Amino acid sequence: MKSGLEDVVAAETVLSDVDGTNGRLIMRGVSLDDLAHSSFEDVAALLLDGFVAMPHDVQTALGAARQAVFATIASAGDLTALAPVDALRALLARLGDSDDAETALRLLAAPGVFTPAILRQRQGLAPIAPDASLSQAADALRVLHGEVPSAEQEAALNRYLVTVADHGLNASTFAARVVASTQAGLASSVLAALSALKGPLHGGAPGPVLDMLDAAGTPAGADGWVRQALDGGDRLMGFGHRVYRVRDPRADALKSAVAMLTKAGAIDPARLALAEAVETAALTQLRARKPDRVLETNVEFYTALLLEALGFPREAFTCVFAMGRVTGWIAHAREQAATGRLIRPMSVYVGPKVKDAA
Ligand code: ACO
Repeated sequence: MKSGLEDVVAAETVLSDVDGTNGRLIMRGVSLDDLAHSSFEDVAALLLDGFVAMPHDVQTALGAARQAVFATIASAGDLTALAPVDALRALLARLGDSDDAETALRLLAAPGVFTPAILRQRQGLAPIAPDASLSQAADALRVLHGEVPSAEQEAALNRYLVTVADHGLNASTFAARVVASTQAGLASSVLAALSALKGPLHGGAPGPVLDMLDAAGTPAGADGWVRQALDGGDRLMGFGHRVYRVRDPRADALKSAVAMLTKAGAIDPARLALAEAVETAALTQLRARKPDRVLETNVEFYTALLLEALGFPREAFTCVFAMGRVTGWIAHAREQAATGRLIRPMSVYVGPKVKDAA
């Protein structure tokens, strides 16, 4: 029995390849280095090709899907008692569970519409209707803040969405495939995936990364804080990965977007310096304490700085992750439905034996 299914191959996929030894991520034959400069719409078309009947003009179709999704918000009522990710689950569950292309597009569009609306409702503000002519990244920021973002802000969110669009058989994608294998609908797969994503060992880490920066306080305080956290048995959020045995290539894709935002004045250089000091202290301590295990910076570390700079509150970071990763979930669910069988592994019974009748 392999606890955590480590190294167990559970699916064949044409969607993405996570090369943990060489630190490379490939989506449908294109490396992240090249994809990072593409639009979210182009990457969605690439990943969904052959699995969802995609329209020729993806940006316009996605814009129309955003408007259709927005129309469902008014009847949803007050969701402020729920954490943002739970409110997102509630709103997604109302979209219907069909398997058609229209539902797929709506699910793809939905986190970018619902997340800003959820955040605005928590501030007592009305939701803003989508502008179908904008890109997914620009419109998500516009309906959050009420103004069209700068070119740098749009590019940074686009970079993030593309970078996290798919990533092999991670926990949430596996959850999506398990549900798809039962022939439940597409929304059910997406909901299962989102529920897996919210945990701090998966997509819930970047919020706590900012808590960690707050706790460290200053670059000079980084080393002491990291030592204390590790002495207390804590895991450092934003470090380590099940598959990568080198630095997560997504961390570099996002670090360059963070550098661009810093140059544009959207990130205080002091904030970046604090993050770099915490990263250096964490890597130094992790190498010293776990010499047999490579624990490098993962995608979540620079995600935290990037999403903070774009004005997303930390409690909503998992929802923003879902804006990008929903692409992979839909593609994997459709691939599983098209090519896979019911996923039904075995367990080993280690409970008490049946007592023989006297
Ligand atoms: N900080 C401190 N110690 C760590 C960390 C960390 N971030 N990551 C792993 N370790 C330690 C473990 O405690 C363990 O030590 P032990 O052998 O003495 O018990 C050893 O390294 C191996 O860890 P595993 O649990 O086997 O690693 P696993 O592959 O199961 O976990 C995971 C990977 C969950 C990402 C882990 O590294 C972690 O908890 N990281 C922090 C949370 C995080 O950043 N999550 C986001 C991941 S990226 C994503 O999902 C999008």
